Amino acid sequence: MRILVTGGTGYVGSHVCVDLIAAGHDVVVVDNLANSRYDVLDRIAAIAGKRPRFLCLDIRHGALLRAALRAYRFDGVAHLAGMRSTEESMREPSDYYRSNVAGTANVIDAASGCPFVLSSSASVYGDVAGVADEDRPPAPTSAYGRSKLAAEMLVRDVVDARGGHAWVLRVFNPAGAHKSGRLGDDPRGAPCNLVPRLEQVAVGVRERLAVYGSDYATGDGTAVRDYVHVMDVARAHRFALESRGIEREVGVCNLGTGRGSSVLDVVAAFERASGRRIPCRIESRRRGDAAECRADVQRARRQLGFVALRGLDELCADALRWRRYWLDCLRPPLDAAVEQPTPAAGAPPRQRRMRPRPRPRRLPSGL
Ligand SMILES: NC(=O)c1ccc[n+]([C@@H]2O[C@H](COP(=O)([O-])OP(=O)(O)OC[C@H]3O[C@@H](n4cnc5c(N)ncnc54)[C@H](O)[C@@H]3O)[C@@H](O)[C@H]2O)c1
Repeated sequence: MRILVTGGTGYVGSHVCVDLIAAGHDVVVVDNLANSRYDVLDRIAAIAGKRPRFLCLDIRHGALLRAALRAYRFDGVAHLAGMRSTEESMREPSDYYRSNVAGTANVIDAASGCPFVLSSSASVYGDVAGVADEDRPPAPTSAYGRSKLAAEMLVRDVVDARGGHAWVLRVFNPAGAHKSGRLGDDPRGAPCNLVPRLEQVAVGVRERLAVYGSDYATGDGTAVRDYVHVMDVARAHRFALESRGIEREVGVCNLGTGRGSSVLDVVAAFERASGRRIPCRIESRRRGDAAECRADVQRARRQLGFVALRGLDELCADALRWRRYWLDCLRPPLDAAVEQPTPAAGAPPRQRRMRPRPRPRRLPSGL
């Protein structure tokens, strides 16, 4: 099948590309690189054996998107492009609605008629305080969550009006990295999710982990979340694209493991993976953080045949491998550290000794 992956150079999207290509699908990526890097495409190619076709486009520009995609016939769309920070969405709500709602309308119009998979978020549920199933009435508490819910409603209305079918995948806490260590979460700014912050502490670029709240009504007092390996999330997107949906129906499924891990559980898993102690500092709770949020995973199992296969230890080991690779890419090449003598006039230039590893074009920020 030929699949359009929007946001295909981003964190989840790049893993979706790897999974789809490895399963034999032809992938076309649309991304404006607002929160990702061009060399992700090289790394996808190195892992999956084929480079996806890349269109550097902004999904907010509907006319341009339609013109660029007119030449293609797609068998499915995995729509992941958009903005994802809860905190930022409360400062810049219009940006979130422009990207996540208007952008979704542009994508669904440009790839009109083919099966559509929307990567949505558990944030549409709001304060869960336990386990969320898909019938729970949505009550998002952030502009990000509300923009994802609006995108879900838009997809539903379009399928109602024009036919076809779609899936809405409500992703819980995607984390970890591809097992090669060459792809992972690499946001432009400082990471706000727990696992990327822990990765930074584990490799020594962040001094300690701030743990927000230790007095929740949970086993150890820290907040409990459903961390699901990003490659499992990618596989679920493929299952949705490959499934035969029901005409004029929108399937809604949670993507999680169904298991909860506290902040201190994840810290302990990182300590096992890295073999070193992770320094932590307890801070006060963050406004709006629920004590516990886990996915009910029965429907994903029944309707998509999806079960998360990887556990927390594998997730942390993969995340750490990725962060070590990322750190390695920041080191100067071997010959940059040693001043070379100027070659005598007429002498042949010395061969540069190149490090074998690819280096990102821009330095990752957000240390
Ligand atoms: N990472 C999470 O914690 C999480 C949790 C639940 C759901 N999701 C959803 O998964 C999807 C992907 O998230 P992610 O974590 O990979 O984020 P990401 O920021 O790593 O990836 C998003 C990609 O979209 C691109 N993009 C952003 N605005 C764009 C625009 N206007 N036009 C074209 N490309 C644009 C970015 O450059 C980036 O490559 C999002 O829709 C998000 O809501 C993520």
